[in-house]
Amino acid sequence: MPTQLITIEHHILEQERAYPEATGVFSNLLYDVALAAKIVAREIQRAGLGNILGKSGTVNVQGEQQLKFDVFANDAFINMNSFTGRVGIMASEELDDLVTPTEAMKSGKYVLIFDPIDGSSNIDVNVSVGTVFSVYRRKTPVGTAGTQEDCLQPGKEMVAAGYIIYGSSTMMVYSTGNGVHGFTLEPTLGEFLLSHPNIQIPEIPKYYSTNESYNKYWSAGIQKYTRYLQGLDSQALPYKLSARYVGSLVSDFHRNLLQGGIFYYPLLYKDLNNPKPKLRLLYEAAPLAFIARGAGGYASDGEQSILDIQPESVHQRVPLFIGNRDLVEKAEEYIRNYG
Ligand code: AHG
Ligand code: MN
Ligand code: MN
Repeated sequence: MPTQLITIEHHILEQERAYPEATGVFSNLLYDVALAAKIVAREIQRAGLGNILGKSGTVNVQGEQQLKFDVFANDAFINMNSFTGRVGIMASEELDDLVTPTEAMKSGKYVLIFDPIDGSSNIDVNVSVGTVFSVYRRKTPVGTAGTQEDCLQPGKEMVAAGYIIYGSSTMMVYSTGNGVHGFTLEPTLGEFLLSHPNIQIPEIPKYYSTNESYNKYWSAGIQKYTRYLQGLDSQALPYKLSARYVGSLVSDFHRNLLQGGIFYYPLLYKDLNNPKPKLRLLYEAAPLAFIARGAGGYASDGEQSILDIQPESVHQRVPLFIGNRDLVEKAEEYIRNYG
């Protein structure tokens, strides 16, 4: 047990002190996210007992079956942030449209974008899932209803991002651009306590993480890059990597953040003329790219930094390569040279 317990509230306040002009609104918004996360964590812990596993019977905008848990977590984050006056507009992976602004939201200065449950197909089999969130300043004037323009900002405009991992313990990892910090939920206190200050991705990576069953749908460059990671390409890999793939982006990312490695989900050529990415720019790729950068790593779509991409729609998807900078840059190199 650490001698000094630092709660997430305490930590957020400390970070705020670096900005004398701060009004506290932003700090309170981060507490609201942490509280919604605790509500979701409580429900996940007893998921097998209630009537909350399985399909909800609805389909989301991406055409994916929604699980009851997707809906539960989505509602928890929306309810927590609709009436505080801190958030002006919200977008959720689970909703076709932006969250309809309430009267209180008109005065909100911030934009909140989230994937309420990431990796949701893993819940029914008791494997870790997560929540991903990001915060931007709004573009439209305070006092009016927020619009899509507020949500379509490149990741480099982000003011905070983070994720919650509902794993063997629940952790919240966040950054406001000043280091990446991890907190573990102490269940008997109901508090997130600082357990991983100033996370830096280790210099020597341990893992590569991808769904290798898609090998046949990958471009020649990605197939060759994967052989490089396996130590089978003509270009030598300077260390040995092991394979790990959970299938929940948050869990795969979190493991690689702490132990070093690369996660990649490239374009899939199921249709040769129309290759498709899967992961979502605003809900998944950009927030984790912000965290990766804060920890000394890098995220790319294979050609450019994820944080530089100007989104065109809220549900836009992108290829994602994220983790240790040298491994991500090597992926860019293989794509440049071999397609
Ligand atoms: P979500 O549950 O939010 O729809 O995201 C699922 C994503 C992501 O978590 C994971 O990395 C990826 O889907 C796994 O996809 P495959 O099953 O195709 O490997
Ligand atoms: Mn997701
Ligand atoms: Mn999701």
